Amino acid sequence: MTAQIIDGRAIGQTHRARIATEIESMTARDLRPPGLAVVLVGTNPASEVYVRNKRKACEQVGVVSHSYDLPAGTPQTDLLALIDQLNADRTIDGILVQLPLPDHIDPETVIERISPAKDVDGFHPYNVGRLVARVPRLRPCTPWGVIQLLRHIEEPFKGRTACVIGASNIVGRPMALELLLAGATPTICHRFTPDTAAIARHSDIVVAAVGKPGLVKGDWIKPGATVIDIGINRRDDGTLTGDVEFDAAAEKAAWITPVPGGVGPMTVAMLLDNTLRARAFGTHEAA
Ligand code: GUN
Repeated sequence: MTAQIIDGRAIGQTHRARIATEIESMTARDLRPPGLAVVLVGTNPASEVYVRNKRKACEQVGVVSHSYDLPAGTPQTDLLALIDQLNADRTIDGILVQLPLPDHIDPETVIERISPAKDVDGFHPYNVGRLVARVPRLRPCTPWGVIQLLRHIEEPFKGRTACVIGASNIVGRPMALELLLAGATPTICHRFTPDTAAIARHSDIVVAAVGKPGLVKGDWIKPGATVIDIGINRRDDGTLTGDVEFDAAAEKAAWITPVPGGVGPMTVAMLLDNTLRARAFGTHEAA
């Protein structure tokens, strides 16, 4: 078998076009377009690239992007004060603080300071709890984007087993919760799992979110499975690669996502979608 490619660029583009159309119809009715504050602390090169992409994507669909680039030495109290200001600003619907933060800043304190109604990353315990309790509100962008890719290929979810490799707060854990909510039967594997390969080999869906190139081997993939590669790793020559041995896995799978051009574009599309949704919730809008 040779897998079909799941084209995240094309699927992401259809979501962006829908979002752009919705925003156009808002502004045509003299409604304020959605506003997103993107906060970057320090100069992590990967974060700078991600933030630039997010801001550019905002511009393309009509979301008003507000940029806050703070020096690496910014005290935590200053960052919290900025978040308080953004929480109170009625023209800002979404607040994104790019992670990781410098070591002297506690990410949990920062995440919990963001109003849950403006938490377009879906990382606040309120939004995590909503997902756990099967009443999702703002959902973490990458896992929600993966669900859109799976819906696109008409993944049935119910009666299907899934293996999520990686248990991070940003991707692995919410990914397993999304798969569970969709009706699949997920297993989360992590560094202390005794035999991840054996679990993967029995799974209809394998999602890799670790950040180790080539971690998932071709012989981990059940014939006909769907393989979703969330890893973004930079090779020595500067090119990007995922967590999956792509060529070997594509020999076995029915569907597979490439890196780049798979999950990455969906993360950005879902961030825009969350910003539009946060605007629609409007709990921070003038009465
Ligand atoms: N760092 C890596 N991925 C993400 C993300 O989705 N959101 C934020 N805020 N930081 C990240």
